[in-house]
Amino acid sequence: MGGAISGRTPVPAHIPPELVRDFDFFAPPGADEDVHLAWKQVQDEGPEVFWTPRNGGHWIATRAEDIREVQFNFERFSQRVLTLPADAYEQTLLPINVDPPVHGPYRKLIMPAFLPRAIDQLDSAIRQAAAELVDELAPRGECEFVEDFARKMPISVFLKIVDLPYDDRPFLLGIVDRMREPDPDAGRRGMAEVVAYLGKWVEERRARPGDDIISTVVHGEIDGRPITDHEIFQLLTVILLGGLDTVTSLLGFICRFLAMSPAHRHLLVAHPELRRNAVEELIRRHGVVATARYITEDFVSRGVQFRAGDIIQIPNCLYGLDERLNPDPLTVDFERESIQHGVFGNGPHTCPGAVLTRRELTAFLEFWLEKIPDFEIRPGSRPKMYSAGVNGVSRLELVWTPPGPA
Ligand code: HEM
Repeated sequence: MGGAISGRTPVPAHIPPELVRDFDFFAPPGADEDVHLAWKQVQDEGPEVFWTPRNGGHWIATRAEDIREVQFNFERFSQRVLTLPADAYEQTLLPINVDPPVHGPYRKLIMPAFLPRAIDQLDSAIRQAAAELVDELAPRGECEFVEDFARKMPISVFLKIVDLPYDDRPFLLGIVDRMREPDPDAGRRGMAEVVAYLGKWVEERRARPGDDIISTVVHGEIDGRPITDHEIFQLLTVILLGGLDTVTSLLGFICRFLAMSPAHRHLLVAHPELRRNAVEELIRRHGVVATARYITEDFVSRGVQFRAGDIIQIPNCLYGLDERLNPDPLTVDFERESIQHGVFGNGPHTCPGAVLTRRELTAFLEFWLEKIPDFEIRPGSRPKMYSAGVNGVSRLELVWTPPGPA
């Protein structure tokens, strides 16, 4: 018989006691100081895979090789459960919660909007969003980076992709805040608000299609039949939410790193040709998403028994921090060759937003370092981080010397 850790989900009988750790991924020790070091410690010290009774009870895979296997083997590891605790949302979100072959037609419908040539069309809008925000901040000599930049840039870019009014920015950010609350009821209310907001524009684009992604989805076909309203909202919600917190988080991690590392800043200013590799290396070092999978069948792997119905979490940030893939993984090296990471996932659900994200980060580096090449964390303040389904920075106070009059 399995035992129980007080106040936690009872340990199922098939899980050996030596693989049980009382680990809450919302609160790894030290995460508020440095979420990546906190997770790295789990990888370095824990068993390769272990089970925790927290958040409904789930496995955690810590090695790149195992995370990759989970991402590719969708027959054994289904996306029907993606967030933890497993019962927080009853919704099936498209395309992210369905496995192949059902997944294919939804992915096919949205993918053209995310291909490099489509993102090329958005390039000037992305650069303009970054330049405007930097121009506004530079003369101030200080900012709270998360509120003043990292949350504003991705929503500005999203509104461009879907061709919606820029003035809706505060309203949409408010919804995202409510969805981020730990209370599942608040999350559900936030979701209902997203649907109500998008509903107005779905009707508008049904009547007057443009060349934006809402029009593409609204007029799309799935397996030769017209897409339903329910499917439309599921797809648009994932496209909206998929690119907000994630990009905000990466911007926050990267800016904190650069604020603390003048040598890396100076290198990028002196060698803009390194920017492309630097973006990839900064992404690798600062992974953000930890999703889960639902195990569909009983199997034994490396002597460990897994059962159908078990949930396994895959912290993508650990993939690129595994020294079996990247030597000296905690060091940020802008000239690193063969950068390997799983920050955007792998396999059939690999993030379609990866090209867009890279462009946003590149534009941030270009315009920020042009106008604010030297900046630091406000003396006496402490950046705050958190661990969650999407890791992030909650506060990052910066100061710099404003440029003098031209
Ligand atoms: C830092 C930025 C981002 C990160 C780290 C990220 C990460 C991910 C990951 C890991 C997945 C796969 C989920 C899994 O395997 O469990 C995913 C899927 C997805 N992402 Fe992103 N994402 C980012 C930005 C974006 C952006 C900018 C968009 C769109 C505007 C976007 C839209 C999506 C969509 C639609 C899916 C579902 C794809 C499918 O199920 O086939 N993401 N993302």
